[in-house]
Amino acid sequence: MSEPALLLVVCGAPLAARVGDGVRAARGRGWDPYVLPTDAALPWLEEQDLSDVPVIVGNRRPSEARRTPTADAVAVVPATFHTVNAWATGNADSYPLTTLCAALGSRTPTVAVPYASQELTNHPAWSASLTVLRRAGIRIVDPQNGSAESLASVPSGTGGRIVKDFDWDWVFERITARPTV
Ligand SMILES: Cc1cc2nc3c(=O)[nH]c(=O)nc-3n(C[C@H](O)[C@H](O)[C@H](O)COP(=O)(O)O)c2cc1C
Repeated sequence: MSEPALLLVVCGAPLAARVGDGVRAARGRGWDPYVLPTDAALPWLEEQDLSDVPVIVGNRRPSEARRTPTADAVAVVPATFHTVNAWATGNADSYPLTTLCAALGSRTPTVAVPYASQELTNHPAWSASLTVLRRAGIRIVDPQNGSAESLASVPSGTGGRIVKDFDWDWVFERITARPTV
């Protein structure tokens, strides 16, 4: 039997620098990972060797075959202010956002690691979006300590340490594949 497929959506924030580690961690846990970067995440991916994993950018052409299997689980690491708000309001205007909206609608097990500064998280849309996502069953994980119960904004000047200390086990211990029937 093939390994369960994990779609790893990567948004444009500093924690995108750890996606290569996430791919290795996913494989170590028995997942078959696919990387789905947003356009804003691409500069961080350029600095990593992702040559041995499918990196899927943009929409497929109408005549093109599907580029991933059906997702058994989805992880969004990091999830930016923009993507969290767009996802919660059902804005599907890019391939990663369409994937996230469809994952939510199909109740595919999904973990998101939001990553945003206080200037952004003070905007009232942020807490409203997180409430929508949590109620829809999305597991929200704090990038600073792995908590699934609380979420702190990223204090300015601490991004480098948070990126370095981020532990992918915080994501994988909260992902379970869709049960097979
Ligand atoms: C160097 C840099 C750092 C950024 N850091 C963050 C961040 O920590 N959190 C965030 O929400 N947006 C951050 N942004 C802004 C996002 O990249 C921007 O809002 C983008 O539109 C997000 O698109 P996406 O959600 O499709 O990835 C950063 C942008 C740059 C260029």
